Amino acid sequence: MKESTTINKASINIEKIRADFPILSRKVNGKPLIYFDNGATAQKPLSVIEAIDNYYKTQNANIHRGVHTLSQEITIEYEKARSTIQKHLNAKHAHEIIFTKGTTDSINLVASSFGKKYISKGDEIIISLMEHHSNILPWQILCEERGAILKVIPINDAGELLMNEFEKLLNAKIKIVALTHISNTLGTINPVKEIIEIAHSKNIPVLIDGAQAVPHSAIDVQDLDADFYAFSGHKLFGPTGVGVLYGKEKWLNKMPPYQVGGGTIKTVTFDKTEYADLPLKFEAGTPHIEGGIGLATAIDYINEIGLDTIAKYEHELLVYATEAIQKIEGVKIIGTAKNKASVISFIVDGLHPFDIGTILDQLGIAVRTGHHCTQPLMQHFGIKGTIRASFAFYNTKQEIDEFIKGLERAIKMLK
Ligand code: ALA
Repeated sequence: MKESTTINKASINIEKIRADFPILSRKVNGKPLIYFDNGATAQKPLSVIEAIDNYYKTQNANIHRGVHTLSQEITIEYEKARSTIQKHLNAKHAHEIIFTKGTTDSINLVASSFGKKYISKGDEIIISLMEHHSNILPWQILCEERGAILKVIPINDAGELLMNEFEKLLNAKIKIVALTHISNTLGTINPVKEIIEIAHSKNIPVLIDGAQAVPHSAIDVQDLDADFYAFSGHKLFGPTGVGVLYGKEKWLNKMPPYQVGGGTIKTVTFDKTEYADLPLKFEAGTPHIEGGIGLATAIDYINEIGLDTIAKYEHELLVYATEAIQKIEGVKIIGTAKNKASVISFIVDGLHPFDIGTILDQLGIAVRTGHHCTQPLMQHFGIKGTIRASFAFYNTKQEIDEFIKGLERAIKMLK
């Protein structure tokens, strides 16, 4: 491994890491930025910004299409990015890594393509109550189109899946289970390996929405035995507009193309088209080339720190912030699962999340307020929205102290 100037492998070297993220030194409303909206999108290290800059300055050409040097060079680079992602997820083959626009696009791809091939009238699809709209709506539309039925795994008050209820839902009509790995709203880490094992014992494939999991933990798709694993680049410290669908070769080979066009074919006549092999069959049009390269650069960056180190540090931040927030009168945390990622959603008695978020913003503190694209979950808890602070490895306990002070000030002002 090349020597790193920024990273101390054993633990987080916070000053050096923060220096890698230029945006963290800017001010917002005259105050140093405290960025606690990592669940929505993560900030980008210099290496990613420079990779994109370098692409446009020195590498720009289309891939898989040219005999000329630039095109050949960038094709190699783009396929190298695919291999980086393959290794990062421990996928068996590079062609099981499909570049998409993001998690939403990846899930739409599976719902549409798998749905065309495998879902018929009367079939059932299982999701859970804590899904993001992006892992509800594609299945809902598919069910409407095909006359299939959507089944929902319920949760307990802490925001954990009721596993016995999940097992009760399983029957011969279930064609796929689609489940989030980590809830974007509650922070719950779901026991996806166990769920996959149970589903597989009934020959049911499982799609995992990994959007919130990939930034916080090492993912091994072979160990999980996931059939599909979807995530976005931008939450993983990479660029927006690029994401990944991992799919087992055995499924992807049988599934029809999703979107079609340039790049997806072997031969076209007006009578018939023969489609390309994986992964190109699923990658219509000119892709987000610099996005793929930027994403691979982001993966290299976090691997230098080490995902175990990241997970440990973020857990410390979670525990620290949870203890502090619980002491504030009138604050209630929504999502208290035993196994949680560094996400804290909460409400404050009698106050609107939006008002709190607005005052925090005046103090330079970025949190997300609202339903977080999980309206059914909000309905379950009988609330309209929450305030959500979501941490990354570049956040600090000092920032949490400032956030707690800001929150107390906002509550005092609004009460
Ligand atoms: N899904 C993203 C979030 O939870 C946008 O904020």
